Amino acid sequence: MPETSVLTISNWSVGYLDQPIVKDFSASFEAGTVASLIGGNGAGKSTLLKSIFGLNKLFAGEMSFEGQPVHRLAPADRLKAGIAIVPQGRCNFPQMSVRENLLMGGYVLSPAAAKIAFDKVVTLFPMLGRKLPEMAGNLSGGEQQILETAMVLQINPRLLLLDEPSLGLSPLMQSEVFETVDDIRKEGVTVIMAEQNVFGSLMISDRAIVLELGRKFMDGPAREVMYDPRIRTAFLGGDPAHADIEQGVLQ
Ligand SMILES: Nc1ncnc2c1ncn2[C@@H]1O[C@H](COP(=O)(O)OP(=O)(O)O)[C@@H](O)[C@H]1O
Ligand SMILES: [Mg+2]
Repeated sequence: MPETSVLTISNWSVGYLDQPIVKDFSASFEAGTVASLIGGNGAGKSTLLKSIFGLNKLFAGEMSFEGQPVHRLAPADRLKAGIAIVPQGRCNFPQMSVRENLLMGGYVLSPAAAKIAFDKVVTLFPMLGRKLPEMAGNLSGGEQQILETAMVLQINPRLLLLDEPSLGLSPLMQSEVFETVDDIRKEGVTVIMAEQNVFGSLMISDRAIVLELGRKFMDGPAREVMYDPRIRTAFLGGDPAHADIEQGVLQ
């Protein structure tokens, strides 16, 4: 295991019922990097992300986080250990203000720590600072995604799992969300995100892992995977050098 590996997953098979969905997955993730999980609908991206947080059934395998085995820990204990997840879809309190949502995100903290955490995310995402009194449900989809990410960032995770952060957003908001991920990496947080916007996510990722039918199909530097002919054909519909594929979202 490399010294800087923050998360190591070995021979990981996970699912929901009697059969594993993600099979025999192994990978190590370096601290402070962004890895994208890509693959078609049903490939197992969400299942893999959820399993890192302990939300589904482990059939086989081991996982260590910062050198400690965590695969037997309950999700709440993984959270305490420094792993956080933002699930797919909207997960804020839409009828509450942005300020109240952020306070909810930091509710496990002491009042003093919560204040520091609140100030930190408002500094990191000035848009939230400007919209503190607004109802969360009235923000745009992209702003809500940023709010949800900020809610979990308050507890200072060292590993952040993002499931489809750009799903359903306008191209402009997708770029903003990806910039947010880039900012989070600059804070030293390791990010693993599932994405269907292959081009957009790979542009800001260090690494890309391609899943196909629950198995790892490809794993390498994001730029190399982006330029691989198989990925271009399957996900990008052409030549990544060509601007019109910037919106290339896998159907
Ligand atoms: N809660 C669940 N119970 C049973 N099977 C599920 C559940 N969620 C997803 N699956 C199955 O797991 C497979 C992978 O799904 P998922 O991980 O959501 O893929 P992706 O995120 O890549 O689209 C699919 O065949 C899906 O039907
Ligand atoms: Mg999914």
